[in-house]
Amino acid sequence: MSQTEQRTAIPQHNIEARFEEPTHGPSTSSEWWRRSVIYQIYPRSFRDTTGNGIGDLPGITAELHHIAALGVDAIWLSPFFASPQKDAGYDVSDYRAVDPIFGTLEDFDALIAEANRLGVKILVDLVPNHCSNEHALFVEALASPKGSSAREHFIFRDGRGVDCQLPPNNWQSHFGGPAWTRITEPDGTPGQYYLHLFDSAQPDFNWDNPAVGDEFESVLRFWLDRGAGGFRVDVAHALIKASGLPDWDGRADGADSPGYPFADAPMFGQPAVHEVYRRWRSICEEYEGERVLCAEANVHPIESMADWVRPDEMHQSFNFPFLHTGWDHAALKAIITRSLKAFGAVNAPSTWVLSNHDVPRHATRLGATAPSPRPGDGLGPQDEQPDIVLGLARARAATLFMLGLPGGAYLYQGEELGLGDNTMLPNEHRQDPSYARTNGERLGRDGCRVPLPWDDSSSSLGFSDSAASWLPQPAEWAKLTRQAQETDPDSTLNFYRNALALRSSSQLGLGNLNWLEDTTNGQLLGFENTGVMVALNLGVEPVALPAGEVLLASSSEALSPAGPEGSAVLLNPNAAVWLRRASS
Ligand code: GLC
Repeated sequence: MSQTEQRTAIPQHNIEARFEEPTHGPSTSSEWWRRSVIYQIYPRSFRDTTGNGIGDLPGITAELHHIAALGVDAIWLSPFFASPQKDAGYDVSDYRAVDPIFGTLEDFDALIAEANRLGVKILVDLVPNHCSNEHALFVEALASPKGSSAREHFIFRDGRGVDCQLPPNNWQSHFGGPAWTRITEPDGTPGQYYLHLFDSAQPDFNWDNPAVGDEFESVLRFWLDRGAGGFRVDVAHALIKASGLPDWDGRADGADSPGYPFADAPMFGQPAVHEVYRRWRSICEEYEGERVLCAEANVHPIESMADWVRPDEMHQSFNFPFLHTGWDHAALKAIITRSLKAFGAVNAPSTWVLSNHDVPRHATRLGATAPSPRPGDGLGPQDEQPDIVLGLARARAATLFMLGLPGGAYLYQGEELGLGDNTMLPNEHRQDPSYARTNGERLGRDGCRVPLPWDDSSSSLGFSDSAASWLPQPAEWAKLTRQAQETDPDSTLNFYRNALALRSSSQLGLGNLNWLEDTTNGQLLGFENTGVMVALNLGVEPVALPAGEVLLASSSEALSPAGPEGSAVLLNPNAAVWLRRASS
C-alpha cells in the first residue's frame, strides 16, 4: 500500500491544537515562482551519454521526463558553458557557448524543446561576479598595459610594500589563500595583482565599469532568446566592492563565524548591486512567460537578504540560514518565522532548501554523530562516519516538513533517491579547488557531487553506458538506483512523488503558516498550513498526534499505535507527518 493510500483515522490526541497568530498572510497571486518547486541539476553528475564519465546535456534531455514526473516546476541547471572546469564550470570562458564536454548549443535547444513539451522551465546559472582566466577579456587584459581600458574589465591594483611584494589588501579567497594573484606584465616585469574572491583561475569582473554591465545584459538576452525560463545568479551579493577596497579581517569562507559570515564584508552586499538587478528584472519582464531571477545572495541577517527580492529586483533568494539550521526545535522555528516575516515584508515568497552542490547532502548532515570537523565542508574517510539509517529517516522528515512550508522549495538532484555524500571518497579523486588551495585542510565539496545511480545496466549504475564516473559512487548506492526505487511504495522516490503531488493539490506553497503551540517540551514542531497540519518530531520520545486523517508520513516507520488498543497514533522520533485534523 502506498503512503497516500495509508490513511489512518485518529480518534484521540493529547496535543491541544491552539494556534498562534499567523506570521504570513495568504498570497492571492498566481505567479508560479511564489509556490514553485525547483530541482537543481548538476549536469556533470546527472547522466552521461558519451561514456566519458561526465554528464551532458543530451543526458538531461533523455531523462528529463523522470524529473518532470516528480512534479517540479523548473530546473536550475548548474553551469554548462565553455569553461576550463577549474571550479566545475563556475569559471566561464565563453558565456554564449556550451562546453564541448556537455554538448552543443543545439543540444541546449533540444533540452529546451523537451522541457517545453514536459511543461518544465529551465533556469540557467549565470556567473557574473567572475569569469575564467581563459575568458577573452581577461586574456586581453593580461596582454594590455597597466592603465589600459582592457584592464578596466577586471580589478587590477598595484601591490603594497617594498617592490609591491604584498597584495593590495588582506582579503582572503573563498577557497583559501590570498584573494589576489600577481601577474607578469607583457614586458616581463613583475606586475599588478588581480582580485579573485574564489580561485586564481576566476578573476573578478569590475562592475564599476559600465561595459561589464552591458556585456551581461547581452548575455541575459542571449539565453532568454533561446528560451531560458530565467536565471539562478551566482554570488549575487558580491558584484560590487566597497570603494577603496578596504582591508577586512573576516574570512570569506565564513569559517570564523559559521551562520553569519558576511555581515560587514566590503566585498558583499554593497548597495549599488541592487541597481544591476533592477535592470535585469526589467529585461526579464520584456519577455513572455514570467522569466525569473533567483539570487545566491549569502548575506546576513535574513532581513538583509530580503533586499534582493524587493518588488523590482529578483523573484527569489536562496534561504541559506534555513539550510544551515540543524536538528533544533527552537532554531528551526525562529528561522522560519523570521524568514516569512522578512520576505513577507517585501511581498516576496520565502524559499526553502536543504541540499545543493556546495554543502554536504542533508541525508549526511542529519546523520552525523559527531560535530563536523570542518563545518560546511564534506566528511572524509578519516572522519567519524554518519549514521546512514538515522540520516535518511531525518532527511525524509526534514523534507516533508520543508515541503509543507509556504513559499518556494529547492531540491538537489538525487535527494529524491535518499542519497547522502560519498564520505569515503579517496583523496586522489578530489577536484574541488578548495582542497588544493588549502593543502587538503579543507576536503571541499566533491562528496555531494557524485554521479547519480540510475539502474544496474553498467558498473557506473547507469550514470554512463560505460564504467566511467568522474567521481566514484559509494557501493551502497546499488540499492538506491532510480530503477530499484521505482516500484517500491516505501521508497524515498515514491515518498517524494507523493509529497510533491499533495503539496500541489493542497496548495501548500501558496498557503500561510500558523504555528502550533508546543506542549511537548520542544519535541514536536508543528504548524498548520491551508488546513494541513505539518509536524516534525525532533525529540527522542514518540508524541501523540491530534485526531485526524494522516495524509502522508515521512516513512513506513514514522507512526505507531499509541496504546494497546491501537486507538491513536504516535509520531515517532526523527519522523514527520502531514495530517488533516478531524473537525471537532
Ligand atoms: C557559488 C557556487 C559555487 C562556486 C562559487 C564560485 O557559490 O554555488 O559552486 O564555487 O559560487 O562561482
